[in-house]
Amino acid sequence: MEWGMKNRMSQLIQPNGRCFFLPIDHGYFQGPTTCLERPGKTIEPLLPYCDALFVTRGVLRAAVKPENAKPIILRVSGGASIVGQDLAHEALTTSIEEIIRLNAAAVGVSIFVGSDYEHESLMNLADMVNLCEDVGIPVMAVTAVGRELEKQEVRYLSLSCRIAAELGARVVKTYWCKDFDRVVDCCPVPVVMAGGPKCETELEVFEFVHDGLRRGAIGVNLGRNVWQNPYPVAMVRALRAVIHEDETPKGAWKLYNSLKKTRK
Ligand code: 5RP
Repeated sequence: MEWGMKNRMSQLIQPNGRCFFLPIDHGYFQGPTTCLERPGKTIEPLLPYCDALFVTRGVLRAAVKPENAKPIILRVSGGASIVGQDLAHEALTTSIEEIIRLNAAAVGVSIFVGSDYEHESLMNLADMVNLCEDVGIPVMAVTAVGRELEKQEVRYLSLSCRIAAELGARVVKTYWCKDFDRVVDCCPVPVVMAGGPKCETELEVFEFVHDGLRRGAIGVNLGRNVWQNPYPVAMVRALRAVIHEDETPKGAWKLYNSLKKTRK
């Protein structure tokens, strides 16, 4: 691996081999998402506890201070909305010059395997890999399911992750599912878990994150379960303990409850 690629990968993946990405890219297809109406305000207290921020160029420029930003994973696919015909109908949105200008540590591209736009989304990934490998920037593939949440199961996710890795993604982000080790085991690049819909309880979040890590994921890219929580700082700190300190789900839940009382 060349120096630039290695340097960027190590900005994302910490010396213990783990990572905690904080995504705030949701507006690129769903507009002003609850608790992300003012993204700069939302992330301010959370940034110290995450390893990288997943964000579009628009929100990056408007709401993230360049002076003390975390490594940036730039969301570079888009072009669909929740009120449009098909969420899978994406294209590449950001040029390689812009990616370099914004000093991205990585970029993220969604793929929609099995959708009407499977080919287009896979070629978006392959095209971005071709551009980014030339300049040493890792591409993270996002295995998206659109509205078809039933696709969050092991056979579908293994298929999507493996295809993403075969096309050259350096990291793959996918949903946690039962038997998650089967997804990780047949994916030759590191796998990061996405948050998915908001869980009912904090303990559920700690449990799925802990299970996924035990089964081989290197970390999370988790948004709504953090910043839509009434105590987001307590949540981000408790999750960090699970990811970086191997805290148990119950231990993280205790930590969350104690931090919640101090509103820290
Ligand atoms: C949206 C994304 C998000 O980054 C991803 O879904 C994680 O966010 P959340 O934890 O809120 O699900 O890629 O397309």
